[in-house]
Amino acid sequence: MQPTLTTGAEGLEIRWSDGTVGDFPYIWLRDTDPSGFHPTTGERTFDLTVVPLDLKPCKAEVTPDDLLITWNDQDEPSRFDLNWIKVHRPGQPRHDPANITPVAWRADLGGAGVPRHDAEGLMTSDEAVMDWLRQTKRYGLSIVTGLADTTEAGIKVARRVGHLRETNFGLTFEVASKPDPNNLAYTSDALPLHTDLTNQELPPGYQFLHCLANQAEGGGSTFCDGVAVAEDLRARDPAAFEILSTVTVPFRFHDHVTDIRSRKTVITLDTRREVSEICFNAHLADILDLDPAVMTSFYRAYRRFMEMTRDPAYGIALKLRAGEMVVFDNRRVLHGREAFDPATGFRHLHGCYVDRGEWDSRLRVLERSQG
Ligand code: OGA
Ligand code: ZN
Repeated sequence: MQPTLTTGAEGLEIRWSDGTVGDFPYIWLRDTDPSGFHPTTGERTFDLTVVPLDLKPCKAEVTPDDLLITWNDQDEPSRFDLNWIKVHRPGQPRHDPANITPVAWRADLGGAGVPRHDAEGLMTSDEAVMDWLRQTKRYGLSIVTGLADTTEAGIKVARRVGHLRETNFGLTFEVASKPDPNNLAYTSDALPLHTDLTNQELPPGYQFLHCLANQAEGGGSTFCDGVAVAEDLRARDPAAFEILSTVTVPFRFHDHVTDIRSRKTVITLDTRREVSEICFNAHLADILDLDPAVMTSFYRAYRRFMEMTRDPAYGIALKLRAGEMVVFDNRRVLHGREAFDPATGFRHLHGCYVDRGEWDSRLRVLERSQG
């Protein structure tokens, strides 16, 4: 049965025989007319300012497959495929293969519970890449195994996702104890749980740390899920959660050639008030310049969050072995390491970043090509 049309003052109602009802404002129908999109690029070429906001059609009708809308300033009617317009009816969120609900995890995941994926599969199979992208996004963390003993091997896997994110530490970076370090990661000190580069306008999305050697005593890795910590904080201490999601912290990194600063809340919420990002790095927090009226309550909340990240209820520990690469969402999962003794052996990780947008794009394209 053909859908029925009802023309209102501002829009058209379409009622399908299966009970689906769509409300289509006239301005939306005109702006969405398929002829207003470039045939090759798919980009919108229609200029919204050439029509009045309160435009109305002269006629609206359906054929077996299409909806036709005739406008008084245009010879050809706008033609919409009826199935297409049903799927795209206003108020209906568009299907997005990259929209993956995070699974919050705590200590019971254990080092052994971290999803593992073999490098060879990722280099040869798009299906394996899609599985890996999905699972890593769900948990915010995975380990790639079986990498060759070259710094390029990890980077090649990262490039299966997309473009690398270059930073002031380079397109890729070496994590090893170095003379005259400009970053605590380049010492043999312990690193408490943190997210990287919180001082950047956009802290990098996914981080890749390929272990080439880990023979020194110590040097184990720790991780905790920032979403789990933030959600538990919201339940236990709503006032602290509110402060950490509204008060911005100044972050700064500076060395001989850079001075990179940005302000961020520790917890970022999306429009549905779900936790979408965590930005937590005590080393990079600049001198706190908050209003004295909020300073003490900020410290109370910030310290509580910091204590929670160190609570054994959240953390998992593992020691990366040569040939393994940990991959994690740096704006969700906090990472750290134990101190190590460089006199007892060599420790060398090689890293890079790939932003979330690249990750999501690859997921969508792979779903498209694999149906
Ligand atoms: C880093 C870092 C962890 C490690 O480089 O940002 O946190 O295990 N390294 O050395
Ligand atoms: Zn780090």
